[in-house]
Amino acid sequence: MSLCPEYSYHLENMAIKLAGNLIESAKMIKIRQMTIDDVQLGLKLTRQAGWNQTESDWLRFMKMEPEGCFVAEFGGRSVGTTTTCILGHVAWIAMVLVDVDARGKGVGTELLKYSLNYLDKRKVKTVRLDATSAGQPIYEKLGFTPEYQLARFEGIAPSGKRGALVSKATPAIYVSIIEFDTQMNRTNRGKMLSRLFEDFPEDIHIIWDGGKIEGFILTRPGANAIQIGPCIATIDAGPVLLSDALSRCAAEPVFIDIPVDNTNAVKIAESSGLRIQRYFMRMYRGEYVKDHIQALWAGSGPEKG
Ligand SMILES: CC(C)(COP(=O)(O)OP(=O)(O)OC[C@H]1O[C@@H](n2cnc3c(N)ncnc32)[C@H](O)[C@@H]1OP(=O)(O)O)[C@@H](O)C(=O)NCCC(=O)NCCS
Repeated sequence: MSLCPEYSYHLENMAIKLAGNLIESAKMIKIRQMTIDDVQLGLKLTRQAGWNQTESDWLRFMKMEPEGCFVAEFGGRSVGTTTTCILGHVAWIAMVLVDVDARGKGVGTELLKYSLNYLDKRKVKTVRLDATSAGQPIYEKLGFTPEYQLARFEGIAPSGKRGALVSKATPAIYVSIIEFDTQMNRTNRGKMLSRLFEDFPEDIHIIWDGGKIEGFILTRPGANAIQIGPCIATIDAGPVLLSDALSRCAAEPVFIDIPVDNTNAVKIAESSGLRIQRYFMRMYRGEYVKDHIQALWAGSGPEKG
């Protein structure tokens, strides 16, 4: 089918105008390194998007990758953020947030490109992220492939039975937890876990069996709800740890991010009266790292898998 010349001319003009707008917008966007003074911007954008991260989360992101957290300025105003975190050969991108007033102008895309350039220069083999439905199309355009879906469950934690085998982790055990996590995840997340242990020493629980770790779980406060996770555990330890964490949070609002294919974990969330709030798509760029989904009972939050 051929278009009438007038219509085709009109379309061509529109395309040229849009391309011109994109170039003009790109010129107005400046990306710079995030500083401690930008935490308030991060918090403002987090609240605007209704996300759960707190000031302590932002400070931890900056401590983990001081040179890899960025702010976008548009027309001289700070309007966007993103953070990266390098964990050996794998890196995570998170906190991609653009002020509602500045969306649709290429700010999100430029932030991503800048972050990818930062990570490529550091020879990272795999870049991963958990995408919202708003972010996924941008990441696909930049070469990310969807991997699997996680469901965010939310609700009021029911009062249940505490797990008799569950104990509070002490600092002496942190190294063993990180070793267990690395084995299960094929990525050394020690940099992230050790900071979570430092910030929330009272909220790490484990199951030991004959001196061997069978699983661990963390909980931490959020702006809207307690985030339950990460929880990495064997098939036997996972249900006990998850139920135990829920009973410790009894009567409080909670979030748990669960891979939809971990049906055992999904069943626990559903039978605890939690409901799906939304989905995230785990995506990767570069070398594929296969997660052990049946051992992933709760993600650490969309910012780090
Ligand atoms: C997702 C989010 C970060 C996107 O930021 P953004 O700055 O609006 O993104 P971009 O402008 O780069 O791209 C968005 C779209 O605008 C288009 N666009 C870019 N520049 C444009 C311009 N000058 N004029 C018109 N459209 C433009 C892009 O092509 C893209 O189009 P698409 O919808 O067909 O994919 C932003 O919507 C946001 O903060 N959402 C809430 C938090 C969130 O979900 N973050 C993602 C976490 S994974």
